[in-house]
Amino acid sequence: TDSFIIAIDGPAAAGKGTLSRRIAEQYGFHHLDTGLTYRATAKALIDAGLPLDDETVAEKMAREVELAGLDRDILSKHEIGEAASKIAVMPAVRRALVEAQRRFSGKAPGAVLDGRDIGTVVCPNAPVKLYVTASPEVRAKRRYDEIIGKGGSADFEAIFEDVKRRDDRDMKRADSPMKPAVDAHLLDTSEMSIEAAFQAAKSFIDAAL
Ligand code: C5P
Repeated sequence: TDSFIIAIDGPAAAGKGTLSRRIAEQYGFHHLDTGLTYRATAKALIDAGLPLDDETVAEKMAREVELAGLDRDILSKHEIGEAASKIAVMPAVRRALVEAQRRFSGKAPGAVLDGRDIGTVVCPNAPVKLYVTASPEVRAKRRYDEIIGKGGSADFEAIFEDVKRRDDRDMKRADSPMKPAVDAHLLDTSEMSIEAAFQAAKSFIDAAL
């Protein structure tokens, strides 16, 4: 196709989202946060009062998810993230969502997809792959600060445990576990500003364009 694909993977709160949006804006590319496709499927099941452990039911719901209009604000609830990571272990759900994600990745002139398995499974031929990480402590602290910044209350230890549990589930599942593609550029943002991460990403992309 005529689409230039940028694959961005890594765990939650590593800075993937902000980085992906900035890259898409910089190059005038389409952007898909693939976590939202898992979240939207999970929310639709919850809203319909359907079980989260029936693969056939979950696959059917996954096939009905509309990629246009996915909204992180509506889907950001902790409970939805938990449910998303549960249905994300189901191969039939992943197949359905990966098909939709691949269709999206063909959009000209280019597409930025961020998630856990973009460089390894969804778009293995992407000319640019980034794996964005940060230590679990730093990621938990970012989550904590975000909640406090919005005037909420939060328990750091609980968030930290949650980050580690989610990582564990994402890295240990049999189907498409979260891991860096062999040809991915690693970007550890633990001690990096978002601006520095963006500049590093930009130099990798410009070298491949
Ligand atoms: O990134 P986000 O936290 O929104 O993703 C929610 C859950 O969806 C993740 O914990 C992960 O289990 C799953 N996911 C996935 N593959 C992707 C994107 C998200 O398995 N490409």
